[in-house]
Amino acid sequence: MPLVRENIIQMAGYVPGEQPGDISVIKLNTNENPYPPSPRALEAVQQITAEQLRRYPSPDARMFREAAANVHGISSDMILCTNGGDELLSLVFRACVSHDDPVAFLDPSYSLYPVLGAMQDAKKIILPYRINGTQWEFPPEIFKLNAKLLLIVNPNAPSGTLADLSTLDRVIRSFPGVVLVDEAYVDFAPTSALPLVRKYANVILLRSMSKGYGLAGMRFGYGIAQPSLLAQLHKVRDSYPCDAVAIAAATAAITDQAYAGATWEKIKYQRSHISAALRSMGFTLPDSYSNFVLAQVPAHLQAGELYQRLKTANILVRYFNLPGLTDKLRITVGTAEQNAALLTALKTLTAAA
Ligand SMILES: Cc1ncc(COP(=O)(O)O)c(C=O)c1O
Repeated sequence: MPLVRENIIQMAGYVPGEQPGDISVIKLNTNENPYPPSPRALEAVQQITAEQLRRYPSPDARMFREAAANVHGISSDMILCTNGGDELLSLVFRACVSHDDPVAFLDPSYSLYPVLGAMQDAKKIILPYRINGTQWEFPPEIFKLNAKLLLIVNPNAPSGTLADLSTLDRVIRSFPGVVLVDEAYVDFAPTSALPLVRKYANVILLRSMSKGYGLAGMRFGYGIAQPSLLAQLHKVRDSYPCDAVAIAAATAAITDQAYAGATWEKIKYQRSHISAALRSMGFTLPDSYSNFVLAQVPAHLQAGELYQRLKTANILVRYFNLPGLTDKLRITVGTAEQNAALLTALKTLTAAA
């Protein structure tokens, strides 16, 4: 008798981006914030007491929910805290999707979605983006879908492109199941789907403290939805998904909006700078509303080879050997110094080819 379920035996697990031990590597492959978190977050971690470690943490991270509710201008019962945004995805799949239920997502987007679908033994509905040059648009079938769950990354990964609010509104209005709008990168974008959460009971936003707040090492994320939907997700959670240290750090970080906002401005400035520089070297890329760019390499170059050569030069970017992406590199926006090193290396490599 097999020891685990047949669908688990058949599926491939998620493969995370490389996390090299060597800290001298210029790491532009997993979209972390190149700047450290607010000094207040570090202080909060240093002030953790033995008593806080002895006791279980707040089961619903109440301190964070109140701070985040204040930042977003919503009530704290519209927030559910999780062990990274990824855990929110697991909860939504677990609560909404049974064996053979249809689950829809755009392609290319976050490669964890098909893995979570396979775990539930769900039926995948893949919606290929309509890509026209540097324009990435939803396919028309997204407006007449019948599925349990629809996942939309906005701004999208790996393209960095942004769907506008009226398009999202039309999608949510016409969809019978839950729409998860994955806003892991929203801090670098001009708009959020937050107004739609007030309007519709079938939408949930995913937020992450990993990107905008420089806390990827902490593992803290949250969902925003109407309390009726969150009450169902609460039932399928672990008892204490967020630890005391992460709650303290995340609360301090989200409270320090001035610090976080300053890092977002620096990243957006650097994003325009590297986008212009890459275009001048012959790369083609859509305008990004995120903290990375998706650059199609000039026709005389191979993206996979360029990835390897950058790696040899101690610069790590992301190469996806997947349909539609084999001629592209996804590059996280780094600090001014990291970006200068990347552009210098690319100038040499593109000229030598
Ligand atoms: C699109 C998207 N959603 C969600 C996440 C999850 O973020 P985390 O679990 O670090 O909060 C990521 C992380 O890379 C992501 O790219």
